[in-house]
Amino acid sequence: MKVRKFTPDDLKRVFEIENMSFDQSYGINMFQQLYEMGVGFLVAEENGYVIGYVIFWIKYENQGHIISIAVDKNYRRLGCGTQLLVKAISILSLLNLDTIYLEVNENNVGAVEFYKQFSFRVDRVVPGYYENGDGAIVLYLPLDKGKITRK
Ligand SMILES: CC(C)(COP(=O)(O)OP(=O)(O)OC[C@H]1O[C@@H](n2cnc3c(N)ncnc32)[C@H](O)[C@@H]1OP(=O)(O)O)[C@@H](O)C(=O)NCCC(=O)NCCS
Repeated sequence: MKVRKFTPDDLKRVFEIENMSFDQSYGINMFQQLYEMGVGFLVAEENGYVIGYVIFWIKYENQGHIISIAVDKNYRRLGCGTQLLVKAISILSLLNLDTIYLEVNENNVGAVEFYKQFSFRVDRVVPGYYENGDGAIVLYLPLDKGKITRK
């Protein structure tokens, strides 16, 4: 498995993975726009086939934010999400940020378990955050001079 920068050729495949992973989609144009804005955008590939992606940026001066991460259903629990998240955190850690934040659907038990592996902590719950009325759990990871640990 290899993690590399996203290129516009990956757009369709990333959109496909997003679609199979979330009820609510950012839409293919939003991915293009995020890329053009210069956000962090990485894909994981296996033998040249894209199987996952992560998008992240600096939301505020000291705060990184994971916008989206997903792995193709057929390639989950093989460490791909870990590789993507570790790489994103490593890049954000180089930027002297204090914290990384993200939102996760309160019903997404698997993703919450995934983030717990990286010692993300619960900041707060935002009721009705998603279009379908589901609430979001806001998780944060204090950055410790670039050290990343998985439990
Ligand atoms: C969350 C997601 C990105 C994880 O990707 P992944 O490649 O399966 O993750 P990994 O294989 O690196 O998992 C690392 C560890 O996280 C935990 N974990 C991951 N998925 C889990 C699940 N569904 N249930 C419980 N624990 C889980 C496990 O401890 C796992 O280690 P193990 O397989 O050795 O037990 C993937 O499930 C996904 O794309 N989900 C749909 C999209 C999504 O929910 N994204 C996050 C929304 S904010």
